Amino acid sequence: MKNVIVITGTPGTGKTTLSKLLSKELKAHYIDVGKLAIEKKLLIREDLKRKTMVIDPEKTSLVLQHIIQTSKNKTLILDTHIPESVPSKLVSVVIVLRTDPYVLKKRLMDKGFNEKKIKENVQAEILGNCLSEAIILFGLERIWEINTSYLEEKDALKTALKIISEKPREKNRPGKIDWLGKLYDEKRLSDFFE
Ligand SMILES: Nc1ncnc2c1ncn2[C@@H]1O[C@H](COP(=O)(O)OP(=O)(O)O)[C@@H](O)[C@H]1O
Ligand SMILES: [Mg+2]
Repeated sequence: MKNVIVITGTPGTGKTTLSKLLSKELKAHYIDVGKLAIEKKLLIREDLKRKTMVIDPEKTSLVLQHIIQTSKNKTLILDTHIPESVPSKLVSVVIVLRTDPYVLKKRLMDKGFNEKKIKENVQAEILGNCLSEAIILFGLERIWEINTSYLEEKDALKTALKIISEKPREKNRPGKIDWLGKLYDEKRLSDFFE
């Protein structure tokens, strides 16, 4: 059984939903990494243009390292869209959530994000930014992907449980989701890029 589980992905891909379901199922401790960083003031600065706080990934990673090392064998679920903010060496498994750009755009509109923020996040998802960052930080072996675009929440949970209990399916290996290629083939890249 894997006991330090990172759930990452672009905002709107379903991290918090899945992390909370998982922590209930596994009786694990849930940590919203962004919230922890704000509570403990692990911040670089305030991004006035985006009206958000920019968290300091290095400081956050150190605090998480301490939490992991002092929580013995308790299972921890770390919910973050910044893979750099978790201590790579101590992580057992990383699940990167992915969402079809059209579905993601709708989810972010429902979340009340402004147009600029929606565009930035959907573009990041198309380019696979979160996945590529995760691969660089954690290496390919510990990483799995779940496409939540058309999955019910309970099915996303089932897939995540398979991954964590070391019975993952081949289709969840990273590299199978390519929004950029799909949009190119469908001649629809201009829906998201000038
Ligand atoms: N597996 C899923 N399938 C379909 N919709 C989902 C799924 N997970 C989350 N959602 C929906 O997507 C939206 C964003 O989910 P959330 O968990 O807040 O994402 P994040 O924490 O990554 O920003 C919510 O409205 C939620 O209902
Ligand atoms: Mg969230």
